[in-house]
Amino acid sequence: MNILGFSAYYHDSAACILSDGEIIAAAQEERFTRKKQDSCFPEHSIRYCLHEAGKRMDQIDEIVFYEKPLLKFERLLETYLAFAPGGFASFATAMPSWLKEKLFLKKTIEDEVAAHFGQFSAPIRFTEHHQSHAGSAFFPSPFEEAAILCLDGVGEWATTSAWSGRGSTITPLWEIRFPHSLGLLYSAITYYAGFKVNSGEYKVMGLAPYGRPTYMKTIYDNLVDLKPDGTFRLNMDYFDYCTGLTMTNERFHTLFGGPPRQPETHLTQKDMDLARSIQEVTEEIILRLCKALHKDTGASDLCLAGGVALNCVVNGKILRESPFRRLWIQPAAGDAGGAVGAALCSWHEFHKQPRKPKGGDSMKGCYLGPEFSNEEIALFLKKRGIPAEFMQNDTLFPTIARCIADEKVIGWFQGRMEYGPRALGARSIIGDARSPKMQSVMNLKIKFRESFRPFAPSVLRERVNEYFELDVDSPYMLLVADVQPKRRIPVREDQQKLWGIDLLNVPKSDVPAITHVDYSARIQTVHRETNPRYHRLIKEFEQISGYGLIVNTSFNVRGEPIVCTPEDAYRCFMRTEIDTLVLGNYVLQKNAQPQTSRDDSWKKEFELD
Ligand SMILES: [Fe+2]
Repeated sequence: MNILGFSAYYHDSAACILSDGEIIAAAQEERFTRKKQDSCFPEHSIRYCLHEAGKRMDQIDEIVFYEKPLLKFERLLETYLAFAPGGFASFATAMPSWLKEKLFLKKTIEDEVAAHFGQFSAPIRFTEHHQSHAGSAFFPSPFEEAAILCLDGVGEWATTSAWSGRGSTITPLWEIRFPHSLGLLYSAITYYAGFKVNSGEYKVMGLAPYGRPTYMKTIYDNLVDLKPDGTFRLNMDYFDYCTGLTMTNERFHTLFGGPPRQPETHLTQKDMDLARSIQEVTEEIILRLCKALHKDTGASDLCLAGGVALNCVVNGKILRESPFRRLWIQPAAGDAGGAVGAALCSWHEFHKQPRKPKGGDSMKGCYLGPEFSNEEIALFLKKRGIPAEFMQNDTLFPTIARCIADEKVIGWFQGRMEYGPRALGARSIIGDARSPKMQSVMNLKIKFRESFRPFAPSVLRERVNEYFELDVDSPYMLLVADVQPKRRIPVREDQQKLWGIDLLNVPKSDVPAITHVDYSARIQTVHRETNPRYHRLIKEFEQISGYGLIVNTSFNVRGEPIVCTPEDAYRCFMRTEIDTLVLGNYVLQKNAQPQTSRDDSWKKEFELD
């Protein structure tokens, strides 16, 4: 049985195909259309998934959409009525698209599928938004039984939901409903600190260690009424997302002493303190929720999904401080993951198919997207007249490991593209974690982004505990842990006065490129079973350098979706100061490429994130 799951029309459209319950392919639409978080009908992703599964649309048995449009409409309508007439502006903005297409979504989907893929007979089903998240968290997990916590901005009504997963069923336990939303609270501060909602939340998390939690009391006294069990209510007097077109209102701005920071302007200590405060509030709320959920369910393991589950600092805390023994997080925790969740919910819950968790999870390392063979790469290079050298594996791996040790920046393009927001060694830019200049080179000359943002390490699974205070799998870069104390460089007396961004240039460990100012790191463990080529590369690097880890950042520039094809990779290579590009077994050196005139106009192509 072939089930097509998809998410769309909000943000981050994606599609997935299950064949007899096995995830065959999954991809986000943005990677094909090159439009970040593209929310269109995922035509390209569906086409790719069908191709990978070797199926035509008329061979698909069922199509499942990741949320219920009528419930969502009900939420919009009721919110409007509750706040009427205040919310007319946002109501009037949202209504035309609802009345035209979203309210009759089943018809819209039928029309889109038929227009792009011809006749089909598959029924179209709908799962609830948080059901999709919960399904995506539990069904692919390695656990036979677990508690499930979903945290996001909002779908239909639920913003936080708790479930119990057992075998092939997930049972809802309780939920917190809109407008009381931890995701939207975090987004409100993100907006106020001058970052973009729905993508800038990572930046707030990255900025938090530079700040002090000085606004926590203000947040608890005015914005959030937090109960001992972690449930909460927001004081809507301070937020504008129910009635207006922005997140926060004048009262909020007065409370925090001024208007929101203008995007791209200088970051101040206040922004960093706000970031630290909201991060700590979020941690406290989630830890309380976890304790309550553990008590309710008696489960020893926890699964997480929803956009807030991408907050890997919180995840690390859950692992260390919550009563749960093990933790598994859906790597595509945001709405893109709803495509996988919806399809799996249908397979296990509607069709009552059993689930057989094996040792690892069933996400296949997240390498679920398109791949390009050496032959296809050769054809591309030849067509474009691009100079490149083919290397057999025995030469390729030591050569690239040597380049890394020589502080070169490498574009690493191998195998199937990752599903979800993280690059995990299939579409990655990599470098030497020991290099003191690597963080600023990568930030300023490669990614063209704010210099405070730290990079993540890819570390051999078998070595993770030598570098970090962590000894579990973290294949999806969703856990933060501290660098081992023996590797840390103590802050000198004259540096102790430094605060905020000035801390950035103080080396923190023997792997400074991946050590954040608070000695933490966002860790990806690399496993031979799921990515043998990446594992082999790091192993070769270890032989040269004695270090079994490298820096890994996503293969893109700021605001651009992660590269998908060799063409995308080459374009990014030529626009940045990446030294060497590896496409499969082909090695391209920057200094051997034809001179292209330096032109910054391309920076306008991608809207800043
Ligand atoms: Fe969501």
